[in-house]
Amino acid sequence: MCGIIGFTGYERAKDVLLAGLASLEYRGYDSAGISCFTKDKGITTIKSVGKVSELKALVPEDLASTCGIGHTRWATHGGVSRENAHPHTCGNVTLIHNGIIENYLSLRDELSTTGRSPVSDTDSEIAAMLIDSLYTGDAHTAIAAAVTRLEGAYAFCILFADQPDKIYCIRKGSPLVACQTEMGSIIASDMVALLRYSKDYFVLEENVIACLTRDAIEVTTLEGKVLASDYLTVTWDVSSAQKNGFKHYMEKEIHEQPDALLRTITPRLVKYSESGEFYMLPDFTADGIPDTLFLGLTRIIITACGTAMHAGMMGKILFEEFLRIPVTVDIASEFRYQNPILDANTLVITVSQSGETADTLAALRLARSKGARTLSIVNVKGSSIARESEYVFYTHAGPEIAVASTKAYTAQLAAFYLIAFRSAFACGRMPIEQCAKYTEDLSSVVLSIERVLERRDEFKTISRHLIKASDLFFIGRGMDYALSCEGSIKLKEITYIHSESYAAGELKHGTLSLIAPDVPVIALATQHDVLAKMVSNIKEVRARGAFVILVTAKDAVIEPELYDFRIDLPETSDRFAPFTAAVVLQLIAYNTSYLRGLDVDQPRHLAKSVTVE
Ligand code: G6P
Repeated sequence: MCGIIGFTGYERAKDVLLAGLASLEYRGYDSAGISCFTKDKGITTIKSVGKVSELKALVPEDLASTCGIGHTRWATHGGVSRENAHPHTCGNVTLIHNGIIENYLSLRDELSTTGRSPVSDTDSEIAAMLIDSLYTGDAHTAIAAAVTRLEGAYAFCILFADQPDKIYCIRKGSPLVACQTEMGSIIASDMVALLRYSKDYFVLEENVIACLTRDAIEVTTLEGKVLASDYLTVTWDVSSAQKNGFKHYMEKEIHEQPDALLRTITPRLVKYSESGEFYMLPDFTADGIPDTLFLGLTRIIITACGTAMHAGMMGKILFEEFLRIPVTVDIASEFRYQNPILDANTLVITVSQSGETADTLAALRLARSKGARTLSIVNVKGSSIARESEYVFYTHAGPEIAVASTKAYTAQLAAFYLIAFRSAFACGRMPIEQCAKYTEDLSSVVLSIERVLERRDEFKTISRHLIKASDLFFIGRGMDYALSCEGSIKLKEITYIHSESYAAGELKHGTLSLIAPDVPVIALATQHDVLAKMVSNIKEVRARGAFVILVTAKDAVIEPELYDFRIDLPETSDRFAPFTAAVVLQLIAYNTSYLRGLDVDQPRHLAKSVTVE
């Protein structure tokens, strides 16, 4: 949510900033801007409405500067306009901001008495005004004083007009990562912007001030004490954050799922021996997650947002089936405000691709403050949720750039399967043979997904039927219901076709009134134990003229009159069908968006990493 980058060094700042903004664009893409120190002219600011490519066209080729900041915006306060685009300048201060300043209105009124009035509608400009009002030549003092007045979340990169080639940064809530390289110092919202320069980076702690100069990044507390920075290393390379011949990141990320799953599952498989037999079981010793985490639990709460929450819905089914402990799944933004009942026997599992989603992070903090045990399933190493959680299970999906989450979702599913198997085994609720068998089945989904990907053209025909739809329904039971929620969000976020997911048995309690002739219904019927019931529900929509697309198991006997298209999944046991069915739904959503001529990777109004509440 808003991408920010700062660079000072020995290269042309505009090149580093524009390349960085292009890689951060998934965080917001309604407007963009840069500010650079230029010789003689002081700070030059260039902003534009639209994507980074539109900003790029405005930046003079010969912009001679080696220090600057850049921002790509996802509007919160104030509409999409050039004035509201960042950077914002007030007096000596030029800044970019990611987050929300909650008390900006009262600050604005207060600062208006100092003769400062904003030109934009943003909360960010008020922060520039505040820092400027406190600045008397000492940046550190002004920033330290300003943050005591700011309520909300922020990551700032700040230039002071009289301090050329220096960038000051501070954050609370919103992410910032930095690295020092031979070509200079660089800081950004996300590691993907640093990847082409370094695999080593550090996460800026909250409420400390970083001062970037060409040859160093000095990090100090608000009181001025110098701190050392702990560097992390990513295993990703530059190509993992590029399209590599695919038309879109989403298409590439869908195809990366077999590898993402292998990377997530394989390192957790460990050989155990019992009574002379060998078994491959999930084991989290290397993750530092002890079996004791699962012992004595009375309850599990899974909390997350969007797609990650849908993965959690699948987690609930798995835990309840194998661990036999009650599980609730809560949307993180709701969980925070419902005064949840938590104790030391409750395990709160937060799930997040980015590890920075503000509501999920707040839910985690609440859980910790109330003494619950906490485990996070996170993709981005060193992210806030990973750092603040008691235990972390990293998915190794690699960088996910498309706003619509695909490989992160299936990697989160794999994490839940592994954790459910291990916890049930550890608690004596799953025999070793059973655990080994399920673990083997889980590993084999990698091949099944490859089989689905080979059939990708088959699903294009379905998308051709969907492009004109204005409403669409996904129905399913049990695991298929959890998956239909994910299928529906995937489709609507990138195709702009209104879509709803329904527990198939619930249709007759209202939704059937919306089923008119030719309304597409994607019926998921992969679970044999509820197949007969599902067939009844399909008959109900079919009787009202629905255009039925059936996703099912090869051996499911379903009368051909009940569907227009039938997709048979590769053979797996029902429990593992969500993996292959998810890929089918992702491909249908992807193709439909593409055929509708939409921006697949950057759908309107959305952003990938939502660091505001
Ligand atoms: C945004 C993205 C979704 C994502 C959700 C949670 O809404 O558009 O794709 O599922 O945030 O993100 P997280 O990084 O916490 O998984």
